[in-house]
Order: sequence, then structure tokens, then C-alpha cells
Amino acid sequence: MDQFIVQGPSRLEGEVKISKAKNSCLPIMAAGLLCNRPFKLNDLPDLRDIRTMKKLLFGFGVKINDNAFDCSEIHSTYAPYELVKTMRASVLVLGPLLSRFGEAKVSLPGGCAIGSRPIDLHLDGLKKMGAEINVESGYVHAKCSRLKGAKIDLMFPSVGATENLLMAAVFADGETIIENAAREPEIYDLGEFLISLYPQLKIEGLGTSTIKVQGISKHESNESVKYTPIPDRIEASTFIIAGVMTNSNIVIKGCDKDHIRSVTNALEMSQANLKLYDNTIEVLPRNKELTGFNLRTTPYPYFPTDVQAQFMALATMINDTSIISEEIFENRFMHVPELNRMGADIRLNNQTAVIVGGKRLKGAPVMCTDLRASAALVLAGMIADGETRIQRVYHLDRGYDGFENKLNVLGCDITRESSHNLIASL
Ligand code: UD1
Repeated sequence: MDQFIVQGPSRLEGEVKISKAKNSCLPIMAAGLLCNRPFKLNDLPDLRDIRTMKKLLFGFGVKINDNAFDCSEIHSTYAPYELVKTMRASVLVLGPLLSRFGEAKVSLPGGCAIGSRPIDLHLDGLKKMGAEINVESGYVHAKCSRLKGAKIDLMFPSVGATENLLMAAVFADGETIIENAAREPEIYDLGEFLISLYPQLKIEGLGTSTIKVQGISKHESNESVKYTPIPDRIEASTFIIAGVMTNSNIVIKGCDKDHIRSVTNALEMSQANLKLYDNTIEVLPRNKELTGFNLRTTPYPYFPTDVQAQFMALATMINDTSIISEEIFENRFMHVPELNRMGADIRLNNQTAVIVGGKRLKGAPVMCTDLRASAALVLAGMIADGETRIQRVYHLDRGYDGFENKLNVLGCDITRESSHNLIASL
């Protein structure tokens, strides 16, 4: 297992280019299963989750050459536990497999470190569309002749359920209406990709809480499609926070400022010095002292749970008290004991964290517990005095493309020590 060694404190300078969004690329790759049109995804990021999705697709018979996919000869609709357990987004193959082949056997993703994360909303929606669904021995067995359009009112605007149902609706008979749909930019992106595969497909309301899809009949085309997914708003947010925490002048390129408005608003309210352009954000050294904040995570367009841990790292250095409430996942505060090991003063009361900031952090050995918590520990290491050893960075490798290289270019002293080097040095 690799670890990062960060020597702090750091001051950053220069430019960083944001990769394409993991959370767009994964559903888009799954959506490719809908048809036999070959497709190429431009600038697919090099991430562990992307490799897992490729393995899953390969198991169905998808031919993959770098970023090019050919789903014309699918010989299996079985998604095994060994792959699904490592990445919850694997469950996104259910909707497209069912829509195109009328059957799928997909492992239940199970719980994960940040919460129980059931898929009841995905399954209830598919049942409403006429699928016969049995859950047996840890697997979802789904069957249908042709899915039927239906009106589905989601109890919660689940990102994954909205994506699965949107993909399932493509070949459904009639109109599917998803109410209380998730409004994340990645849903919009998935819809745009589906339209690029099927220009005759009518999808209304992408980016709003009511999405309407007029199902089409299956049709064949060998013409290849090229698509460029949107930039990763969580990676962009992480770099902006890195710039603010280190009081640096850095330029974050290739991001979409509209997708991270809740994050930049929160930072500006805390007196961070940002300049926002359409695809570029510049972080400037602050001209006022940072102030504490009171945030709660909520579905898009409000403050994202995927940036909560990074804001917690930021709060530790602000000479003020901040409050963060986590309202999306029930167990997403595992970075708190790790930050406290570095000298932070964070107290938890159920789903709320109170951060008494302004305590100088000191480097310490810490452990990553999930993807975004890992990023928060790197940020903390960058402002801490001395050496921070961050173990289990495989969590971070799921979602940040070349993180340490990008930080090195900005001037941060971060190195990766791989497990075989560690063993050799014993
Ligand atoms: C996606 C993102 C993840 C992000 C999350 C919330 C991807 C690959 N992952 O995850 O990075 O943190 O959105 O913005 O895009 N829920 C149910 N039943 C369901 C589905 C969800 O109770 O059937 C609950 C979950 O347990 C969780 C909440 O709804 O508490 C949000 O989940 P959801 O929006 O579905 O997140 P994901 O799609 O899993």
C-alpha cells in the first residue's frame, strides 16, 4: 500500500489543469452499454475507478482500446461482487443492461465506509418501469421484456438513481418522468452523451428536478461518436482550497466556475481572495484574515458533500470557530480523528462538527479512510509543520488523476512511497 510523505508548510505557485470528472466518466462509460455504436471519450482521467469500470465492461465483452469502447458484442450481463464491492458506481450498469438486453445480474454494492448506501431508489424506479426484480444471495436479478415509461418520484434526489433511471428510460416504451431528480452537472453531462449517441432522443429538464425522457426503439448504427466529459468540479475545488490554505497565488485551469459556485461563494464569504473567469480560477494571497463558516452539505446546486472534508482541513487553520453539518452520508467524518492527531480541535456531535480553528497543525502519521478524506489529509499536511505520512492513498487514487505530480509542479513537497520500496528499506 502506497503512502504520501508531505513536508510542510508549503507555499504554492503556478498553474494546474483540471482533469475530466470521474463522476461523469463512470456513468457515461456505463451508458455506452446501451448501444453498439463505438464511442471514444476524450481525456479520460487515469484513475483507479476508471480502471475498475473498464474491467467491469471488459467482462461483459466490451472491446476497449485506451479511451475507445465498442459494446457491439456483449456476451454477459453479469456484474460480479469482486468488482462491484470495490466501486459503488458499478451499479450504474444495471439500467443500461436491462434497457438493452432485458436482463442483468448485478451484485449489491453493500455498505461502504461513509455510510450504508442502499440502492432501493434505483430498484423501486426500475420496478415502476415494469422490471421484475429479485434480490437473492447478494445479487440483484432484473428482467423485463421491454421497459415501460413511468412517473417516478424519488424520495431523495439520488445521483446514482437518477442516472440509472435516465439510462433505463432510453429504450422504454413511452415517456419516463423522473421527479425530484438530482440536478448535478454530471447528470446533465450523461444526458448530453445519450443525445450524442441518439440524436433523435428527446430529454427535457436536464439540470432541473423534473427530467422527461421519450423512449425510442433500439436501432443500430456503426458510426463512431466522440465525447468530452465535463471537468472535475471536486478536483477543482480541492486545488482552490489548497491555494487558499497555503495563502498562495495559483491558477486553476480547465474548470467550470458555474459548477463550483457554492464552493467559491463559501470561500469568498470567508474572505478568500479569488478571481473567477469562465474556465479559470485564480487564487490570490489573502488581503484579509479568513473568517469561520457554518456550512451544511446538501444536494446540488448547494454545498457538496464531496468537498466537506477539504473544508474541514481549511477550518482548522482559520482563527475562528466553524461548523459543518453532513446531511448526505451518515458516516462521513472519519477524517476528524486523523486531523485531531495533527493538532486540530474538532468536536463531533452526531452529524455536526465544530472546528475550533487557529491551532497550528504538526505533521503526524495519519491514515486515509475514504477518497475525499484522503485529499483533506494532504491539504492538512501542506499547512502542518514537519512531515506528514499519509497511509492508504489507494483511496485517493480512486479519484484524483496524478494528484502528487500536480502538487509537485505547484511547488509542494510531496512524494509517494510505494509498499515494495518500504519493504526493501527494512
Ligand atoms: C454520487 C457520487 C458521490 C457523491 C454522491 C452525493 C458518483 C459516482 N458518486 O454517489 O461522489 O458523494 O453522489 O453527491 O457520482 N440513497 C438511498 N437509496 C438509494 C440511493 C441513495 O438511500 O437508492 C442515499 C445514500 O445512502 C446517500 C444519499 O442517498 O445517503 C446520496 O446518495 P446518492 O446521491 O445516490 O450518491 P451516489 O450516486 O452513490
